[in-house]
Amino acid sequence: MESPVSVHVSENTAARRRPVSIHDLRAAKERGEKFAMLTSYDYSSAALLDELGVPVLLVGDSLGMVVLGYDSTVPVTLDEMLHHTRAVARGAPNAIVVGDLPFGTYQDGPSQALASATRMLKEGGANAVKLEGGGAMVEVTARLVAAGIPVMGHLGLTPQSVNQFGGFKVQGRDDDAARQLLEDAGALAEAGAFAIVLECVPSELGARVTAAIDVPTIGIGAGPDTDGQVLVWHDLLGLTTGRLPRFVKQYADLRSEISGAIKAFVSEVADGEYPAPEHTY
Ligand code: KIV
Repeated sequence: MESPVSVHVSENTAARRRPVSIHDLRAAKERGEKFAMLTSYDYSSAALLDELGVPVLLVGDSLGMVVLGYDSTVPVTLDEMLHHTRAVARGAPNAIVVGDLPFGTYQDGPSQALASATRMLKEGGANAVKLEGGGAMVEVTARLVAAGIPVMGHLGLTPQSVNQFGGFKVQGRDDDAARQLLEDAGALAEAGAFAIVLECVPSELGARVTAAIDVPTIGIGAGPDTDGQVLVWHDLLGLTTGRLPRFVKQYADLRSEISGAIKAFVSEVADGEYPAPEHTY
């Protein structure tokens, strides 16, 4: 039996003996160890996150909004996802790379989902896929898992259904909705999902789901008790403009840092200060 790989970021990530697997996440939950997941959309961010030992990188379809400038995740195509997933997979040999299946590439049922997920692994180089929703997605999850494709579920605020929700709103607030979400989480776990993202649900519900199922939950706006937490790269680093959801904590203000650097470059070029002798041949 292989010993588990740490899911913690440490000074000595180079000492890691092997890439992280979905079983390491389950073992982390059993040990009560919390872990981080981050979105990643390109080679250089993926290489940095991998080097730092972040155990799970999500090539989220949020890339439609933060990288491609769409209003929502709905327009994102599988080809766009594959393009970015390939870059992330090239940069991250150790982390679990999860490729989001975009809207319209799996809702038709298990066969469509299997075709899309197969492309995500074969062409995108992902280790796993993520898909949104409970209900009919339970059968889809079981089909993919039976085919050897690890599946991450996603419940609560599922952004691909923004048109049905009528906006980005907290989900699972009333008793019926909370009961349904608990049921969906149990059914996805039973179908073989290796982890479940819980987005924008009351903390108490995040805690109840986490206690009710054996597979790790990964929260984003789901309170402090989920097994893991995920944030979008641009939000965490202070690159996003406009009003941010309450759950976002900005750990840096890269927008200001980058603005300062760009202004300095533009003005040094205008003044003839750059390039200086040491920058020339
Ligand atoms: O697309 C995404 O980035 C996501 C996370 C916010 C969980 O689904």
